[in-house]
Amino acid sequence: MHGGIHHHIGVLFVCLGNICRSPMAEGVFRAIAARKGLACDVDSAGTASFHLGSAPDSRAIAVASAHGVTIGNRLARQIERDDYFRFHHIVALDRANLEAIRTRAPRDATARLSMLLDAVEGRAGEPVPDPYYGTDEDFVRVWGVINQGVEALVARLLIEVNARP
Ligand code: 4NP
Repeated sequence: MHGGIHHHIGVLFVCLGNICRSPMAEGVFRAIAARKGLACDVDSAGTASFHLGSAPDSRAIAVASAHGVTIGNRLARQIERDDYFRFHHIVALDRANLEAIRTRAPRDATARLSMLLDAVEGRAGEPVPDPYYGTDEDFVRVWGVINQGVEALVARLLIEVNARP
């Protein structure tokens, strides 16, 4: 590998069902990374299996679409062993999912595990609340929180990528 700022950074977002929060995070990340010139390989997955193969929640699709982000073209999947080697960062949306991905991590995993809001000054350790049983307004609020987290994460990753030898 040679130096420079153009190596792709791999980021996987993980929530429970992979139909609400992590697809929104994936979509926002792709948009912000493109705007800021961060070359990335981004995806999302769930820790649970009950929505495997489902499209994102219609409320998540709607709020993303209102912000110019398309997320409806993907289907839910569960995190798998290879993910711990394919991605540089696996970013959980809340504490329970961070614990779940930690528990399942292969002994020799290379990915770094974190929670999204750890990237935000003063909000480390805070979860992105699950909007699934909430209202449309909850989805709008969660979109805002995810957007803030992803903005901060992209800023950190730009620094990380630029510091690579
Ligand atoms: P997500 O939201 O983890 O943000 O995709 C949920 C989706 C489905 C369920 C819970 C949370 N569920 O219990 O079915």
